[in-house]
This record gives sequence, C-alpha cells and structure tokens, in this order.
Amino acid sequence: MSMDRNLALELARVTEAAALDSGRWVGKGDKISADAAATEAMRRTLGAMEINGLVVIGEGEMDEAPMLYIGEKLGRGKPGECEVDIAVDPLEGTTICSKGTNGAIATIAMAPRGGFLHAPDMYMEKLVTGPAGIGAVDMQKSAGENVLALAKAKNCNPQDLTIVLLDRPRHDKAIAEIRKAGARIHLIPDGDVAAAVAAAVEDNGVDMMIGIGGAPEGVLTAAAIRCLGGFMQGRLVFMSEEERTRASDMGITDFDKVYQSEEMAQGEVFFAATGVTNGDLVRGVRYFSNGAKTHTVVMRSKSRTVRFLETIHYFDHKPGFTAENQ
Ligand code: FBP
Repeated sequence: MSMDRNLALELARVTEAAALDSGRWVGKGDKISADAAATEAMRRTLGAMEINGLVVIGEGEMDEAPMLYIGEKLGRGKPGECEVDIAVDPLEGTTICSKGTNGAIATIAMAPRGGFLHAPDMYMEKLVTGPAGIGAVDMQKSAGENVLALAKAKNCNPQDLTIVLLDRPRHDKAIAEIRKAGARIHLIPDGDVAAAVAAAVEDNGVDMMIGIGGAPEGVLTAAAIRCLGGFMQGRLVFMSEEERTRASDMGITDFDKVYQSEEMAQGEVFFAATGVTNGDLVRGVRYFSNGAKTHTVVMRSKSRTVRFLETIHYFDHKPGFTAENQ
C-alpha cells in the first residue's frame, strides 16, 4: 500500500503531546505515572487522526495494559482509509524521566498494514550506524572488528569514533573490545532508541550503537533507520523456553535470524520522537508561565526528509492543554 498522505507532521503532534504531559513528571520519582501520562496523551491524539490504526508494538498485551495495548484499534478514518500499523513507546526511558537524567523521549512509528515485525516483549541484540556502516559492519563480527570496519568506512581513526551502549554487565566484553580497538564510549542508563537514532544521524557525536536492549524498541529503531538510510541489524535474544514459545506464537520460526531494518519495518514508514529530557538526539521539554517548548525529530522513509522541529505551545490556546492539567 502506498501512503500518499504525509503523516509526519501529524505524528509530531502525537509525540509532542506525550512529551508535554510526561514532562510534568520529570524528576518526581514516579515512572508509572510518567508513563501513564504519556500513554494517555498519545492515545488521545492518535484517536483524533483520520487513520485506521492498529497497535502492533505497544504498552503490552490486552490483559496487562489498559491503553495502547497490542491489537488496539485507533483513529477515526473512514472504512478502508489509511490502514496503518502503529508502533509506540509513549515514554521510552521511564526511569530516566523519573530521575530527571538524560535521554527520555516520546516516540512513535507508522507503517502500512503488516509492515512491522511483531516483536515479542523480550531482548534483541542490535547493531546500528549511519549510512557509512552499510557494507562495512556486521553482527557476525566482534565489537572490536566493527569499530575498525566503521573507522575505515568513515576514513577516520578509531579514536575519532564514539560507540554508545546500555550500561549493563552483559556488555562488559563488548566494552573491553571497543576500548582495545581505540574508540570512545558513551554508556547510557536506559533509552536505546534515542541513542541508536542519534548514532545514525550524521554529526550527532555518536557513531554506532551496539548491544542488547528491548526487541519492541528495536522495531521503532528500525523504522527510524529506514528513514535515515542508515544500517541496522537485530537478532532476538531468548532467555527462556517460555520466550521461545511466545515468539513462535507470534509467527517467528527462525530463532537465530538476523533481521535487517527493512525486515523489521517494511514499506513506507514514518517515525517521530520528542524529547522529554535532554539527550543526544533531541532536547527535553522546557516549560514557561503559560506554555512550553518542545524539540522533535520527524521523518519519512519515502522522501528521507528528516525534520527537527522546535515548537512553542501556548496552553491557553489549546483545548485540553491548560496550565492546570499540565
Ligand atoms: P523503560 O521501559 O523503563 O522505558 O526502559 C527502556 C529501556 O532502557 C530501553 O531503552 C532498552 O531497550 C531496555 O529498556 C533495556 O532493558 P534492560 O533495562 O532490561 O536492560
């Protein structure tokens, strides 16, 4: 299905709303309420869009998540109009938001119906770079070899590269190898979607993301990488027999498969992310007396346009957004 409508700016409104509402919870030590605020705002704004949307990556299974659960239908499109799959992470980095540290975003992606890999809620090993990594890096290589390959492809020295990883003991071996290869490292506490997207945007201070994070987050990342013409591979990491059963129930047969970005996010896709707290990709929400400023990146695979939007919101001119409920 071709999507003739440019949904990009409409998606920016969705992530802006989620960031504005969860932004009020920054530093409050309550990640559940922060996530609920983002989820409600996303659901409200998605519901107003003229689409026939189906959530395929969401807040959880129907019985565990009241809103934006997998299988929820959203939008007020006429029958047959704009049938899209939706992948959301209303607040990516809930702990970051609750502590007020760097890198929390509100994010969404859309694809034509059937376009997204139905990734179970489990881990995925990921390797992400900008366009320069294509034909150079590969998940079959070690982290150290990938540093050297990317340096060669970028015609620079390994010490000019910064590699971003989630700060987890499971990455100790990769971290040691990257250091040995000579590259710089940026360890993040959470939030590998923003980090991976930042690595794929040129001149953003990070060059490659390596390591194991959430599989649903991997699908959102793949949508962004398609829009950026970057490189991404992902492989599901099974921690138990139960996870294998869950994956096969969702239609996954090859457990060792290395997915390319275009296998996780197919067709014409859109991606948007708004900063909740400051990060490498976007700045966080900045409030003032009767409004706030948001920073959003929004992109479309068809045109590969990547827009960074700084938006000023005046709450007294927005129905539903008042100084009281913000
Ligand atoms: P939240 O679910 O709290 O937003 O955390 C997100 C995240 O840090 C992702 O960015 C990452 O992919 C995943 O969790 C890592 O999982 P774990 O914390 O189990 O290592």
